[in-house]
Amino acid sequence: MKMQKVIAYGALITAMLVVGNAHPASAQTRVVNVYSARHYGALEKVFAEFTRETGIQVRLSSGSSQALLERLRADGKQTPADVFLVIDAGTLQIAAQEGLLQPIRSQVLETVIPAELRDPQGRWFALTQRMRTIVYNPRRVKPEEVQDYADLANPKWRGRLCLRPATHIYTIALTSYLIANRGEREAERIVRGWVANRPQYIDSDSRILETIAAGKCDVAITNHYYLGNQLRRDPNFPVALAWANQKGSGVQVNVTGAGVTAGALNRDDAVKLLEWLATRGQDPGDAGLPGGNSEYPANPSQRPPAILERFGTFKADYAAIARYGELQAQSIKLLERARYR
Ligand SMILES: [Fe+2]
Repeated sequence: MKMQKVIAYGALITAMLVVGNAHPASAQTRVVNVYSARHYGALEKVFAEFTRETGIQVRLSSGSSQALLERLRADGKQTPADVFLVIDAGTLQIAAQEGLLQPIRSQVLETVIPAELRDPQGRWFALTQRMRTIVYNPRRVKPEEVQDYADLANPKWRGRLCLRPATHIYTIALTSYLIANRGEREAERIVRGWVANRPQYIDSDSRILETIAAGKCDVAITNHYYLGNQLRRDPNFPVALAWANQKGSGVQVNVTGAGVTAGALNRDDAVKLLEWLATRGQDPGDAGLPGGNSEYPANPSQRPPAILERFGTFKADYAAIARYGELQAQSIKLLERARYR
């Protein structure tokens, strides 16, 4: 794997990685350029395997979902990216809406990815599912106290709550989910309740978990796979997970998903990469794009990482996903109004 310098784009684009050098560059070299918001080491391994199997090289250019969307807008039809791979359904919907992604027909993707996890017009497809739910210190909190996001607005959590900041896409998408399934007023009441509890804002789900483990925070909201990854390293890690809103519409779901850009120079290989990611891997802990990250595959026939058995079965709100894009601006305003930092 060799690192290349990439044109600076804010502080968020870190580096361009060329993965898998099994096939040396030549005039016939096939390359798929990917704008990727994933920052998990396991992802590069997955792409290197794709190169070994197909001879198609993958170039990754990484940044946050929002920064990559800005970049794609600035590129327009001249974009060097063939694939736009981000960790938020709302950002995919906005990119599709703005004509930055092209509709693709793929029998493979349409067969293996459930309808609620892809764009009806084929402009994006989910590859993994990630649930944003409640985590807590089981020595100080009973599971029945944390059954729903609204429970964290209870004043008993004052000074005991940890949250991700408002600028992070995970917080914005969670707010869109709350608006989608309970209306804006109720969503705002819940968010104001969290803020009234004077949360400790921590811009890393991993650090939030460590803060709970250290006894400096009792309840929080994080993506499920951060705890899955911690439990792989330490099966006794002292943080528990509660699936939120099981009596209602289900826990919040977001996705790692991808689409082919409107200006893609290598559309065919871009589609090939998406199909490969959506169908590869039946080994436990190695299913498709999750790789070493403890996400649920979007394709129900790919096996989820074994560690996830610890979390049991649950209900998830798939209907809300379709609205993350249209509600994104409204959610940002709500968070500002509620003085969520
Ligand atoms: Fe993450």
